Amino acid sequence: MPARLPGAPTEASVSTYQTGEATSPLGEGWAGMTFPLFRPLLGLLGTGQASPGGTRPVAHVAREGDRPVGLALAEVPGSAPATAELLSVLVTGDARGRGLATALLAGLEADLARRGVTTVGGVYMSGKPFTAALERIFEKRGFTPPQVRKLVVQCTPEEAARTDWFQRARLPEGGIVFPWTELPRDEYEGLKRSQAERPWIPQILEPWSCGEHVDAASSVGLRLHGDVVGWVITHRVAPLLVRYTACFVREDLQAQGALFPLLVASIENIMGTGTACTFVTSNQFPRMVRFTQRRLAPFISYCGETRGVTKGLGPPAPGEGA
Ligand SMILES: CC(C)(COP(=O)(O)OP(=O)(O)OC[C@H]1O[C@@H](n2cnc3c(N)ncnc32)[C@H](O)[C@@H]1OP(=O)(O)O)[C@@H](O)C(=O)NCCC(=O)NCCS
Repeated sequence: MPARLPGAPTEASVSTYQTGEATSPLGEGWAGMTFPLFRPLLGLLGTGQASPGGTRPVAHVAREGDRPVGLALAEVPGSAPATAELLSVLVTGDARGRGLATALLAGLEADLARRGVTTVGGVYMSGKPFTAALERIFEKRGFTPPQVRKLVVQCTPEEAARTDWFQRARLPEGGIVFPWTELPRDEYEGLKRSQAERPWIPQILEPWSCGEHVDAASSVGLRLHGDVVGWVITHRVAPLLVRYTACFVREDLQAQGALFPLLVASIENIMGTGTACTFVTSNQFPRMVRFTQRRLAPFISYCGETRGVTKGLGPPAPGEGA
């Protein structure tokens, strides 16, 4: 453990805050303490109720009087109750640098262990102002060293429009772009059947595997000679941020760049709305990683990667996390 510098915070300065597990819903005042995507979970704390995705949130909080000062939030999937995902850790500016986030994470680990969770994992972004501090906290708490998971770039539609591929994109002869949410049910079921009979779509790019509630404005499909042969499926992860979850065209169309006109159609649909786009590409798809690195990264505001850490949890020590 590194020595503390003179004047550095001590355990005593953390104890000026009241910390503990959140045993009842956290109201409006706590909304700013986690990402917008996870805010609905705060209202479920302590109720035993599951989220629409079937997970149960667990949180450890710090207060100064009534004022929220820190929040560490995790969720436990109903389908895998021995595992938990750390969703966010946040400490208000004035309370930072005193070991509070580390204490909140320790408390949360104990809350999870009491529920029978044996492994906790977390995924976060590189290159953000908080990345180094977060990695130091994980190190202090004995998590595994960070491992790269996915390549992430974020751009505005206007930045994307400056790329050469955006300007040169051409639909394949006879190709028609359509709004994904208008795909008739029977065609959707037909896609599922064709994949079941003879798989031709990587599993994580299957439309039915990439999550419900797609963003209607920016999700589009490609029809060629009557067949659905490609899609760009997106999710609105924050009011002004669309995640490109699954971008795919049939293999024989990939080399001619048939994905580009789909991306262009999608991005044009949100141009001028103030919405930004985030592309998350798994190392599993080298062609897409190359595209992102060469054709998108030079033009855009953020390029980084997601990193993952995990930790095995033993039974909590007596009194830990109180
Ligand atoms: C990251 C954050 C949670 C840290 O909270 P905190 O209470 O200050 O954290 P702690 O004091 O427990 O620990 C921080 C550690 O990181 C170190 N650290 C802080 N900034 C650092 C930096 N830029 N580079 C390297 N280490 C750094 C600290 O020195 C400390 O380590 P030490 O105890 O060995 O000295 C806080 O800064 C924050 O809320 N930032 C915004 C986070 C956010 O957006 N969260 C959502 C993402 S999950």
